Amino acid sequence: MILLTRRATFSASHYYWNEAWSEEENRKVFGRCANRNGHGHNYTLEVTVAGEPEPTTGFVVDLKWLKDVIERQVLAAWDHRHLNLETREFARTIPTTENIAIAAWNRLDSAIALGGGARLNRVRVYETPEIFAEYRGPKMGPAATGASGEEGVR
Ligand code: NI
Repeated sequence: MILLTRRATFSASHYYWNEAWSEEENRKVFGRCANRNGHGHNYTLEVTVAGEPEPTTGFVVDLKWLKDVIERQVLAAWDHRHLNLETREFARTIPTTENIAIAAWNRLDSAIALGGGARLNRVRVYETPEIFAEYRGPKMGPAATGASGEEGVR
């Protein structure tokens, strides 16, 4: 198995706010990020797929195809959007880097599987060059670590 990564960038606005909390509590926990007018980031999304190189092409997936999948599944919904106000995922879920990585996985996983050549292995979302969140799917949690491996490698 080999891992192949494609990077994409998008710009989006967000704010952090927990509706169950008071304004004071939101401001205490989220600080400047609680400003309801939002603020922007230039995000970098890294999409890693896993598979075997197809013998006739040497490709795990066609990178043009993967670019199109990322654009259709993620960028079309998120690029130049206000994540809290304009996307279904973050109408109630706080659009932290962590939650954006999970939502990106959910948008990409089945679309990549439909290609037939590889599986989604890892998603990274960089909010800044210094900060990123990584998600390897729902089996990544503690229950999956140290397991006997019958679930297979993703
Ligand atoms: Ni922010």
